[in-house]
Amino acid sequence: MGRHSHHSEFHTSAPRRDLIEDPRYTPEKIQQRAKYPVLTAKDTAKSKEMPREVKMLVRDFIDDSLYHPSYGYFSKQAVIFSPETDFEFNKIKDHMEFLSIIADKYKEIEDDMDVRDEVARQVWHTPTELFKPWYGYAIAKYIVTEYKLNNYPHKDLIIYEMGAGNGTLMLNILDYIQQYEPSVYERTRYRIIEISKMLAQRQGERQEVRDARRRHSCVEIINKSIFEWDTVVPDHCFFVGMEVLDNFSHDLIRYDSVTEEPLQGMVAIDEEGDYTEIYTPVSDPLIQKYLSIRRQTGYRPPVLSKRFLRRLRNSLPFAPNMTGPEFIPTKLLLLLESLKNHFPKHRLVLSDFFMLPEAIKGTDAPVVQTRYSGTMVPVSTYMVMPGMFDIFFPTNFELLKDMYQQVCRPSLGMEKSVKVQTQKDFLERYGDLEKTRTQSGENPMLMYYENNKMFLS
Ligand SMILES: C[S@@+](CC[C@H](N)C(=O)[O-])C[C@H]1O[C@@H](n2cnc3c(N)ncnc32)[C@H](O)[C@@H]1O
Repeated sequence: MGRHSHHSEFHTSAPRRDLIEDPRYTPEKIQQRAKYPVLTAKDTAKSKEMPREVKMLVRDFIDDSLYHPSYGYFSKQAVIFSPETDFEFNKIKDHMEFLSIIADKYKEIEDDMDVRDEVARQVWHTPTELFKPWYGYAIAKYIVTEYKLNNYPHKDLIIYEMGAGNGTLMLNILDYIQQYEPSVYERTRYRIIEISKMLAQRQGERQEVRDARRRHSCVEIINKSIFEWDTVVPDHCFFVGMEVLDNFSHDLIRYDSVTEEPLQGMVAIDEEGDYTEIYTPVSDPLIQKYLSIRRQTGYRPPVLSKRFLRRLRNSLPFAPNMTGPEFIPTKLLLLLESLKNHFPKHRLVLSDFFMLPEAIKGTDAPVVQTRYSGTMVPVSTYMVMPGMFDIFFPTNFELLKDMYQQVCRPSLGMEKSVKVQTQKDFLERYGDLEKTRTQSGENPMLMYYENNKMFLS
């Protein structure tokens, strides 16, 4: 197999002159690079190194950076961080002390293993890990409440979790159900869909998880990307994903400042391995579909607001011919379609960032960062050496809700079936606030992750 052909119409459209801010972007250079053949992340996964003199859609470029089987950020040795014992919040003075305990543990692990440029953020910093088992208990309480309201005792409780990291949430959810809802527990099945081979293996090998699996024989771990899922699950089920959306690759678009026509971004990799962004009218079918569904929601891109100012600016010499950048979650649309087609009776439980400090420029733009002598250092572009950087995006939950209604629940009345709320509100309702309170009365589980929201359907 070689290069993909479904982008072939791309070559017929003339590339735009690009941003005038970058002196390297002469029209000649862009013309020449626009002629490069198009590769997808699937194509690049087949060779050991990133090929030269090719171009890729931004989502494929980012996918390649994160998931390439040999140099991808997530493919390198994944070290699992998880506090060995649960924190006893009632014995901790206040949230400052909690922070310093975390910092100490973190340092211990770092000194222990040489993991300085590791995927540390990945697992360590998730609420699931920091507030175990209480965070998982809260999710379990929500799921069981909803299950009992709607499906008990006629149906089994079936839970799918994509991207389970250490498997900690699974443990905590099952422990909770076993302990507090024994009759539901007997009818519970839990399946993990995990892309990382190492994590999937470790989910199976960790002593704690092994013990738990002996205890919880209802667990099955499937080592697969959710984007490769191809079987239909006809059952009623809960579909859980905590902190997984943020690594779903995005496409990049800008609009013609005069006509407002959307333009798709591609990254050209030249003979020296340098990157150039190229924009042409949208021809990628997934971007087209995303934009068309989004239009039906009535969403108006922020970069297209202030039409009057744009007109004024366009009349000046050297006005930029494109609007600012906008990152669009095209892979998230693929997830919604998979939910609709493969999990028609799912209930969705997602948690993720809705806002990220230190993101690069643009609407819904990602944070791009790397670990450098012990701290995370953010950079200003996603066009960086593949595999060396973590790239993660915020999620616009309100837009996701509208897109979800369009894709997964088109026949249902709006609003009713889907809920977006802050993680704090969710935890106030379902969390054990006694057990997570410090001596000063502060509750770190409510205080942290203020930039997280929950999506419940
Ligand atoms: C930031 S970690 C979160 C782990 C865990 N859910 C938690 O909250 O602690 C993201 C997880 O999603 C997995 N993942 C990323 N993309 C995936 C995909 N396309 N399909 C399945 N799992 C994926 C990663 O390997 C990792 O285990």
